[in-house]
Amino acid sequence: MREPVSIALIGAGVMGRQHLAYLQGLEGARLCAVCDPDPAAAAVAAEQGVAYFADYRQMLEQLRPAAVIVANPNSLHVSTALDCLAAGAAVLLEKPVGVDLREVRRLVAASAATGVPVLVGHHRRHNPLIARARQLIEEGALGRLVTVTALWQLRKPDSYFDIPWRREAGAGLLLTNLIHDLDLLRHLCGEVSQVQAFTSNGVRGFANEDSAAILLQFANGALATLTGSDAVAAPWSWELDSGENPVYPRQADQPCYLLAGTQGALSIPQLRRWHYAEADAGWHQPLQQSQETFESEPALRRQLEHFIQVVRREVAPLVSALDAGRTLALVEAIREAAESGRRCAPSLLSES
Ligand SMILES: NC(=O)c1ccc[n+]([C@@H]2O[C@H](COP(=O)([O-])OP(=O)(O)OC[C@H]3O[C@@H](n4cnc5c(N)ncnc54)[C@H](O)[C@@H]3O)[C@@H](O)[C@H]2O)c1
Repeated sequence: MREPVSIALIGAGVMGRQHLAYLQGLEGARLCAVCDPDPAAAAVAAEQGVAYFADYRQMLEQLRPAAVIVANPNSLHVSTALDCLAAGAAVLLEKPVGVDLREVRRLVAASAATGVPVLVGHHRRHNPLIARARQLIEEGALGRLVTVTALWQLRKPDSYFDIPWRREAGAGLLLTNLIHDLDLLRHLCGEVSQVQAFTSNGVRGFANEDSAAILLQFANGALATLTGSDAVAAPWSWELDSGENPVYPRQADQPCYLLAGTQGALSIPQLRRWHYAEADAGWHQPLQQSQETFESEPALRRQLEHFIQVVRREVAPLVSALDAGRTLALVEAIREAAESGRRCAPSLLSES
C-alpha cells in the first residue's frame, strides 16, 4: 500500500467543507490541516482531528504538505496558489482560477517553472455524464457539430444578495455561474473564436449583471447561444437539471444544453439522442430517439480522485491553470463585447 497523499484545506467555507466531506471517504488521501482566518474554522479542524492554522503560510512552512485544496475567496486564489507552488505543494484551486488574466499568466508560468501541478475546480468536467457526452461528440455521433443552445435560467432568492460583495461589479452571474457553462462548452465543443453579448441588470438593479444573452462562434465553425439569468422562475440550468447537488430540487426532464450536428442531436443532462434511420432523410421522416447511459458518480469525488493522481504525477490535470485561464479569457471577452457592443475574441493564453 502506498502512503496516502497529505492534503491541507485552505478556506473552510461552504465549498471547502464540501471537499472535506468527499475527502473523508478516500483511501489515497489524508487531511493534515485546516487553514482559515475565521476562528470558527478551528472547530472544523477539531472535528476532523487535524491541526488548525489561521495563516496558511505557517502551515506550509511547518507541515510541507504534498497538496492543498484552495477554496478561499476568488481574489486570493492566485496569490495563495503561488505560495503553495513555492512550497512544492500541488494545488486543487477552486474556480475561477483568478480574477484577471494578468495574474493567471503569473500562475501558469509558476506552475511550468516549478513543475508543480495546478488542477482548477471546474468539477463538472469530472461528471461521468459529461465524459460520455464528450465521447459521443468525439466519436462523431452527431456528425459535424453545427449549433448549441445552452441555458442557465433560475431564480436565486433575494436573501442570496444580502452579502454585500454579491451585489458588486465583477461578482455577477458571468464570473460566478456562467463560467461553469462556458468551461463545459469549451470542453465539449472546442475553443471559441469570437463572441457577441448583451448583459442586463434590469431586474435587480445591482452593479453587476443579473441576465445575459451571449453568441459564441467556435473555431470549428459551430455556433452557440447561451442565455442566462439568476432572476427568473425557470427550470433550465445545470444546477436544477443535472441532480449533481441535492440542495437544488431536481427538474430531471428539463435540458440545459442542446447540441445539434449534421447526423444527430443530443440533450444534456438527459443524454437523449436523435438521428434519422437513413443518411439522407429529412424533416418528413420520423426522427429516431435513443437513450445513452452512464454510471452516475459524484463529480466532486471523481475530481479528488483525479487530483490524487495529479499529485502523484501519474496524470496531467484535466483542467490546468492554462486551460481554466482560457475559460476566464472567454468570460473577459464576453464582458468586453457586452460593454462595447462589438464582437470580441478571447485573449490568447499560452504556456510561455
Ligand atoms: N466549484 C463550484 O461549483 C463552486 C461552488 C461554490 C463556490 N466555489 C468557489 O469556492 C470558493 C469559496 O466559495 P465559498 O462559497 O465556499 O465561500 P465562503 O465565503 O463560504 O468560504 C470562503 C472561506 O475562505 C476563508 N478565507 C478568507 N480569507 C482566507 C485566507 N487568507 N486563507 C484561508 N481562508 C480564507 C473565509 O473565512 C471562508 O471561510 C470561491 O472561489 C468560489 O468561487 C466553487
